[in-house]
Amino acid sequence: MRRRSVLTLAAVGAVAGCARGGPARPEAAAAAPALAFPPRFGWGAATSAYQLEGAANEDGRGPSVWDVFSHQPGRIRNGDTGDVAADHYHRFAEDLDIMKDLGLRSYRFSISWSRVLPTGRGTVNAKGIDFYHKLVDGLLARGIAPVVTLFHWDTPQALQELGGWENRDCAKWFADYAHAMFTALGDKVPTWLTINEPKTVVDVGYTAGIHAPGKQDRRLANVVGHHLLLGHGLAVQALRATSGNGRIGAALSLSPTYPADDSDGARTAATTADAEENRRWLDPLLRGRYPQDWLDSQAADAPVRAAIKDGDLAVIGTRNDLLGVNYYGPTHLTGTGARVMQHPTSQATWQEIYPDGLFDLLTRIKRDYGDIPVSITENGMATENPLQDQDRITFLRDHLTAAHRAIQAGVKLESYHLWSLMDNFEWAEGYSQRWGIIHVDYATQRRTHKASADWYKTVIARNGL
Ligand code: FCB
Repeated sequence: MRRRSVLTLAAVGAVAGCARGGPARPEAAAAAPALAFPPRFGWGAATSAYQLEGAANEDGRGPSVWDVFSHQPGRIRNGDTGDVAADHYHRFAEDLDIMKDLGLRSYRFSISWSRVLPTGRGTVNAKGIDFYHKLVDGLLARGIAPVVTLFHWDTPQALQELGGWENRDCAKWFADYAHAMFTALGDKVPTWLTINEPKTVVDVGYTAGIHAPGKQDRRLANVVGHHLLLGHGLAVQALRATSGNGRIGAALSLSPTYPADDSDGARTAATTADAEENRRWLDPLLRGRYPQDWLDSQAADAPVRAAIKDGDLAVIGTRNDLLGVNYYGPTHLTGTGARVMQHPTSQATWQEIYPDGLFDLLTRIKRDYGDIPVSITENGMATENPLQDQDRITFLRDHLTAAHRAIQAGVKLESYHLWSLMDNFEWAEGYSQRWGIIHVDYATQRRTHKASADWYKTVIARNGL
């Protein structure tokens, strides 16, 4: 439990049997699916720049906070770095062919801010932009819709030296960078995502200090959280100011919260945790205000209250076209506010496997935030099984079943991006955790289909389960 250890974790006996299903059944490609998805459902996969690209020092790319952090001794398991990663920068054509072979209809990737703006601001690096042109063109040529994330945690180091997201100006620098990308790729990219999981930056990068930039300061963390939201709002406005008709939203890591027992205390703790896990992000984006109970809980936090300026919430609440949902698992709280695990975990011990939580989350978004189109922008699991990953197949099948139920219940779910297309640099865990459906042999960079890749290909071909 290295990564998301902000909430107190007191593991109680895991309740077996919640990842329903047992081993996956081989399915004939021609058979009609029992659970058919909507005709144009966006079957996809996701990655991010620092985790996949490598080529850290090539073609004018500047360093990001993750380059600096990963090179600091003791930060990353086994001393791994993203210098080479899955070498996607050089192998993207092969990777595009893999996506095409799987039948993907949608591919979510992120842009390395410091590859296109080496110091985060100023002159655009033509070679950096050129790489993303080639990637997007390659997707379009293969009939795959690009879903482009602008910020997946890799703040340019030159901006970090000016305070990074602690500095309110970073929201503006981000919007300028976003504008540069809209100008370059706006006529080709139908869907943009501004920020990925601001919560993880706040909790893991600035509170636990396990991710870049490795700080442990909750008050600073909350200021960073506000500035990330402000950057999101300014980027949405920057897109609206262009002539393109791309859609835009954010990708939030959301976790339904449940009382761990029947006590009033546990129920209250679940509501409090819901404010922190979910509503403090959803409400500003989709309602233009922070939830009052969350604001009340920050009463003693003068820095964050000072960071929230008049007019900010109107910017942050600029209408979004869609909501990206990253779902990895639920959160259970006892009466003392401690987080307890009630279901099996994956190789990532912070991850509790509970597919029904996805249904609860999606239907809750519809109930509380209306009919905004939703994309599952990440969902998946890490497993030690290298190629015969039956556990991942079970995981995916159970989560897709929950997603299908949510569609039946009226949720406007338009796409599903499994995390991840291929094994990659899993942040503080380095290469020790494998999240891909395509196996990467890091010594040779050879790509091999895992059982889950073949299974997913069949699901896409049948448009259902
Ligand atoms: C998410 C991140 C993604 C990856 C998965 C496992 O929180 O957005 O980059 O690390 O977890």
